[in-house]
Amino acid sequence: MAKLAYIGLGVMGFPMAGHLAAKGGHEVTVYNRTASRAKNWVARFGGRSADSPAAAAEGADIVFCCVGDDPDLREVTLGGNGAFESMARGSIFVDHTTASANIARELADRAGSRGIDFLDAPVSGGQSGAENGTLTVMAGGQPQAFDRAKSAIANYARAVTLMGPSGAGQLTKMVNQICVATVVQGLAEGIDFGLKAGLDMDLVLDVITKGAATSWQMENRGKTMVKNEFDFGFAVDWMRKDLRICGETAAETGADLTVTKMIDGFYAQIQDMGGGRWDTSSLIRRLRK
Ligand SMILES: NC(=O)c1ccc[n+]([C@@H]2O[C@H](COP(=O)([O-])OP(=O)(O)OC[C@H]3O[C@@H](n4cnc5c(N)ncnc54)[C@H](OP(=O)(O)O)[C@@H]3O)[C@@H](O)[C@H]2O)c1
Repeated sequence: MAKLAYIGLGVMGFPMAGHLAAKGGHEVTVYNRTASRAKNWVARFGGRSADSPAAAAEGADIVFCCVGDDPDLREVTLGGNGAFESMARGSIFVDHTTASANIARELADRAGSRGIDFLDAPVSGGQSGAENGTLTVMAGGQPQAFDRAKSAIANYARAVTLMGPSGAGQLTKMVNQICVATVVQGLAEGIDFGLKAGLDMDLVLDVITKGAATSWQMENRGKTMVKNEFDFGFAVDWMRKDLRICGETAAETGADLTVTKMIDGFYAQIQDMGGGRWDTSSLIRRLRK
């Protein structure tokens, strides 16, 4: 049993921290900016809550985190009462936020200068993956730190892989997001086309998920897109943040993201329709309005 801390009990962090306590049997201290969520977490999973990232991280062997974007991550690590302030030498910070590779490298340096290991470890698998403990985790950082953190991460993951040095986890997640956004747009156009042609789209999806067009998105979101249901966790606001990070990275590396950028503009239209917290399959709404 290890002493663990978890910072950020949102859609993802709440169940992930829960698995550490319930399945892993670890002693977990949580911090959440909105204290009521931390209180709910303790009521459900035991452990205790702290009133700052630094207080939660004090004495922890591993500190986990899942917040929103680069500035949030900076705040909970380096800000006043940030976790790095109190973490002991030899402890590990595992960040599950989807953030930039640049901040991952910067925080790995800043942590390293204090004798702390930092792993960027973004996840894929969504709210259901977090709740069911079946996430895919793609990590960047030092192999020794990864080996020490892996078994704790495995409490909520079905695959945990070290992709390379600091930043490699975030870069892998960017590839993931580029592929997701482009697949969802293709699916939206296909479903809208079929509906406008008068096809029974449930039947169409039953048939074509067995062929070459199939995808996780088609299998898990196709029929709910037909039914106009967009309440599945991964918010459009987050996807826009992720695609912004992909665009910034492409500008540095010279990669061509022509189609991805177009789809990012479509997601901006969904935000304008009030859909910032709808899930990402809501791209079809701009075709069916
Ligand atoms: N949802 C998904 O399906 C999914 C899938 C893969 C990856 N992700 C990524 O995982 C991360 C979290 O997503 P989520 O869906 O769990 O988001 P969420 O439900 O909005 O939760 C965000 C969490 O971060 C905390 N937070 C945000 N800014 C903060 C700050 N400046 N200081 C302290 N705490 C802060 C929030 O605290 P409050 O409670 O006070 O707001 C909340 O606990 C994002 O980077 C997202 O892109 C999400």
